Amino acid sequence: MSIYQIWVRSFCDGNGDGIGDLYGVYDKLDYIRSLGVDAIWFSPLYPSPNADFGYDVSDYKAIHPDYGTMEQFQKVLARVHALGMKVILDLVINHTSDQHPWFLASRRGKDNPYSDYYIWRDPILKRSGAHRLPNNWSSQFAGPAWEYGAERDQYYLHLFSKNQPDLNMDNPRVRDEIRSIMRFWLEMGVDGFREDVITYISKHEKLPNGLPWLPVINGMPYYRDGPNLMRYLGEFRAVAREYGALQIGEAPMTNVKRALRYVVGEDRVLDMIIQFDPMMADCFMTEYLHHAFSLRKLKRAFSRWQNGLNGKAWNALYLENHDHPRVISRYGSMRFWRESGTALAAAYLFQQGCPFVYQGQELGMTNIKLRSIEQYLDVASKNLYHMFHKNEPQEKRMQRIHVSSRDSARTPVQWSDAPNAGFSTAEPWFYVNQNYRTINAAAQENDPGSILNFYRRALELRKNCETLLFGGYREWFPGSAKLYMYERALEGERILVIISFRHSELRCRLPEGFSAGRGELLLGNYPEPEIGTLRPYEAQIWRWRR
Ligand code: GLC
Ligand code: CA
Repeated sequence: MSIYQIWVRSFCDGNGDGIGDLYGVYDKLDYIRSLGVDAIWFSPLYPSPNADFGYDVSDYKAIHPDYGTMEQFQKVLARVHALGMKVILDLVINHTSDQHPWFLASRRGKDNPYSDYYIWRDPILKRSGAHRLPNNWSSQFAGPAWEYGAERDQYYLHLFSKNQPDLNMDNPRVRDEIRSIMRFWLEMGVDGFREDVITYISKHEKLPNGLPWLPVINGMPYYRDGPNLMRYLGEFRAVAREYGALQIGEAPMTNVKRALRYVVGEDRVLDMIIQFDPMMADCFMTEYLHHAFSLRKLKRAFSRWQNGLNGKAWNALYLENHDHPRVISRYGSMRFWRESGTALAAAYLFQQGCPFVYQGQELGMTNIKLRSIEQYLDVASKNLYHMFHKNEPQEKRMQRIHVSSRDSARTPVQWSDAPNAGFSTAEPWFYVNQNYRTINAAAQENDPGSILNFYRRALELRKNCETLLFGGYREWFPGSAKLYMYERALEGERILVIISFRHSELRCRLPEGFSAGRGELLLGNYPEPEIGTLRPYEAQIWRWRR
């Protein structure tokens, strides 16, 4: 199975107001089907004040008016099903919007039905009478994780922006609400959920202080994989099971051992984990702390998870989503744009697991560089900019935003070289990357060598090949800084994926047991590939049969 992710606001505008919507999605369903994917994951479609673009939900059982009506959603759902694909919704339940009616009630006082829906704590009073925050945790979007609510004279916890108060999952009524939300969509025919920061939902009861010197993630030991997480996930799993629904959990800062607890065996509580290791080949923990791209680091991340989950669980494979800058700009090369875009596709699409393709990734879309921080909309970028590295020259600080901002993944999809990249007939809600005149879907549709058609061929190849689906994984020459070679093998069949990350020719040998003369080419990103000699960012996929 493979999944296409839609971040709807920038996907396609169907009603001409400059904002992507479900009318635009409907028009593009045949295109999505043509990629060969099996399901669509929609980033949040719910009403939201957009403090974090949909990840701050103000109504879990409705569609954002910007994106259409419930009727239009059902139309999309029916058409997706008719095309033989599935629909996966984002389930954002660690927190709500601060405009959600539950929170509006909760903040009003300590004795209404919603008072205990969120995590409220008294201030710690200093001798002077001044307040200290209930603990020293930082928000993951920078700044303290607590915000004052005067009406209660208490602070509420928010692991993300202050407009995203964390739900109190220890309250059984909150968990009833979650189950009711799941049922609402599953009854309608939705096929599964991608569950936002799901490993954060159970906090350590005492909310102890984290390391004082660690920025951004100091509280993590007390909210990640918390004491009741397995039990709560089990309760949600029971609902999903009734409907045979798929559950994919987002798990920041996890590792193989932790992940295995959730995704192994018949009684697993999640079907797959989205882990962040493949996003860290050019940074330290977060893109904001950037360093030069290291192919070795990327290969280690890939192989650690391939080997760690092999035979036990199914990997979620991805190189892009709405939270990360565009991968060609990070791990590839603008000079070898087409070559590196296809090479990166080959680097992950043939691993064991379920590949995700993020809108525009299949077109080789790249990062934007806006001049000033005011032009950026991503709350994480803005907070990081205003809180860190304040003594550096402005140019250096903007560079940090250019390499890290989530906004680079959120520019309108480039459909053609028409005005506004064919995304909308109106002025789009956000900047269009000006390279749309050359990088766009229409230009690639009929070009057999395009990135778009490489994705199509790769996904089709994978789907029809037992070895690529179920075979074992083995990495060759792991020490090489410019070559990524991995093998997939099943019974008598062995497939080698051979990829160069070099800007000039790269010579390589085959591992022992493979004879160049007997290999059969399955796919490549250059004409007439030759085994052992790789052109810049050349990718070759060869098969050997006994
Ligand atoms: C997840 C989402 C991200 C969001 C955050 C808070 O990481 O993918 O977009 O900002 O959770 O909901
Ligand atoms: Ca619209």
